[in-house]
Amino acid sequence: MTKLSQSVFFIGSVPVKPALALAPLHEITDQAFRSFMREIGGLGLTVSEMVSCEALIRKAAKAEKMLAGDGGRPFAAQIVGARPEAMREAAIIAEQSGADIVDINMGCPASNVTSGLAGSALLRDIKLAESCVKATIKAVKTPVTVKTRIGWDDSQKERADYLDFLKMFEDNGVAAVTIHPRTRSQQYKGKADWSFITRAVELGLKYPIIGNGDVLTPEDAERMFGETGCDGVMIGRGALYNPFLFKQITDNSFCVSHVKRVEITIRFFEIVMKQCNERESLHKIKKISGYFTKGIPGASGLRQKLNGLCDPAEILKELKIVVCHAGYPKKIPR
Ligand SMILES: Cc1cc2nc3c(=O)[nH]c(=O)nc-3n(C[C@H](O)[C@H](O)[C@H](O)COP(=O)(O)O)c2cc1C
Repeated sequence: MTKLSQSVFFIGSVPVKPALALAPLHEITDQAFRSFMREIGGLGLTVSEMVSCEALIRKAAKAEKMLAGDGGRPFAAQIVGARPEAMREAAIIAEQSGADIVDINMGCPASNVTSGLAGSALLRDIKLAESCVKATIKAVKTPVTVKTRIGWDDSQKERADYLDFLKMFEDNGVAAVTIHPRTRSQQYKGKADWSFITRAVELGLKYPIIGNGDVLTPEDAERMFGETGCDGVMIGRGALYNPFLFKQITDNSFCVSHVKRVEITIRFFEIVMKQCNERESLHKIKKISGYFTKGIPGASGLRQKLNGLCDPAEILKELKIVVCHAGYPKKIPR
């Protein structure tokens, strides 16, 4: 059987090779984070953070910035909305900005999104969801994909309503679907139930299915691929805890050390400083270094120290001290 690391699948005519995607994570997987992950390697597809259709139509600068590519291809722009006309306009903007794929968000559980009937709220209204899909597909030449959950709540999950959505997507020409097998009510709690991905694969739909949820190690990724029969695997939080995860999946000789983890934190900061202003860079490094250095000896002391610093040069100096400190100290020197 082909391993995930050697697999390829197509979204329309766009090849995803290896069959691995970085999941959209709002306020994390921005352009800087994605280009950083591309540099490490092992990725076949990146997706923008969700971008509000209404904000794009208003030409909000923050929304437009979210659509910026990361230097690698293929790149999908993810739009979130619930007004078919707005989806149409936003899809055109996303395509014009250079995205290879337009992805529709049908999974976001945040109440500020679902109150506007968007994200996972679309799973409660198959007619509206279909109108959004039709409008988006009609608007662009690029393939259109959907990222979805398995329902709004337990009752929808038990009825497996998501299978009706998957068929509706096929009838309308959706080019691939990512399934995060949790309901909206679960938010991120409990376990992602991969058997719902298997059920989707067993429908034998025309488009590829990308599995997503709780992949934290290279073994998890291969297991999801092997057990469910999905065409590709999308990883979010696993890549945040370990940015080398895609690299490790595709190169099993690659070893991660504590020093590599701090060095990669430094590299992330260098990329962020090139792409963002100083204030944003400081905010991002403080947020992300907490994930990247989790578990290494002295990490909490390092994080506390970084949090108190306001000068990027000082932050870099502290990180470099940690790398240079032979054998890793139990406590980071103050
Ligand atoms: C902080 C955070 C932000 C997220 N932002 C988005 C988003 O913008 N669009 C989206 O489709 N999913 C978003 N998700 C969901 C993830 O893409 C993914 O489906 C979920 O985290 C499960 O995958 P994982 O276990 O690999 O993280 C977000 C999740 C988290 C934790």
